[in-house]
Amino acid sequence: MNKRTIACIGCGNMGGAMLGGWLSVAGQRGYRVLAMTRTPARAAALAARGLELCETAEEAARQADILVLAVKPYQVEDVLARVAPALGPETILVSVAAGVSVERLRTACGGRCPVVRCMPNTPALVGKGVFALCFDDPSLKPDARERVQRLFADLGVCVELPEGRMTAFSALVGAGPAYVFQMMQGLVQAGVTQGFSWAQSRELVAALFEGCACMARQETTPLMEMRDNVCSPAGLTIAGVNVLDRAGLSGLLVDAVLTAEQRGREMETK
Ligand SMILES: NC(=O)c1ccc[n+]([C@@H]2O[C@H](COP(=O)([O-])OP(=O)(O)OC[C@H]3O[C@@H](n4cnc5c(N)ncnc54)[C@H](OP(=O)(O)O)[C@@H]3O)[C@@H](O)[C@H]2O)c1
Repeated sequence: MNKRTIACIGCGNMGGAMLGGWLSVAGQRGYRVLAMTRTPARAAALAARGLELCETAEEAARQADILVLAVKPYQVEDVLARVAPALGPETILVSVAAGVSVERLRTACGGRCPVVRCMPNTPALVGKGVFALCFDDPSLKPDARERVQRLFADLGVCVELPEGRMTAFSALVGAGPAYVFQMMQGLVQAGVTQGFSWAQSRELVAALFEGCACMARQETTPLMEMRDNVCSPAGLTIAGVNVLDRAGLSGLLVDAVLTAEQRGREMETK
């Protein structure tokens, strides 16, 4: 086979984000990128960038070296029942469906191919996603695992996790963009209240998060020390920080993540 074929079933928020990332590097990496989705109009923008659309999920599965499943969790079994006959031991199935275990995936595809469970987040769209990859399927060979690692490394940061940690990761990182965008929204609103335009305020806040994220990754200084370093005695920053402390912002974030994790576990048992 000349080119590695990546096929994705489902082109919604997550499928679209990942496909967008792979299309950006397809030429460089020699990937052929295919997709099948229920409403092809949703994939029109990606098709204009070189995404090949298949008419059926079976057709996508037959051509795939790596088949990525990006439908809602409750749709996984239906889709896999349809594509299973087209899967072989050389195909690798990667599912991004939240809460769908390796065991469920293996059962749904009749053990025909090795499976990988993946938990992504939406910044994959801009090559800055964070992905957990679960390689607990014993039928997965080392070279298949490396291919999946390389594929997802093109979309952002990857960590390998055992299945038991996937829900914790989902609540912290999969759901993470929702927490971060909500915090950004609050700051953008503050800027508008101060008289900046919406566009300018958004630009300033996005640059603020980007700069802080870079510092947090590059430096090993404790985050609290980095915070305190910008709080001069009797200054304006400490006045603002005191408000956040009184509201218990850090505790709220811990509670948000733990509540999301608990909800994730409830959903898995249903
Ligand atoms: N969004 C996130 O931030 C996020 C984060 C982590 C994990 N995930 C996981 O990613 C998966 C997809 O979520 P999403 O947010 O991308 O959902 P979404 O926007 O609803 O996308 C689902 C896609 O699957 C398509 N689809 C549904 N049934 C199909 C079928 N039988 N054959 C082919 N395509 C079919 C849908 O088509 P239509 O356009 O016709 O509806 C849609 O394009 C979920 O399992 C979720 O748990 C999402």
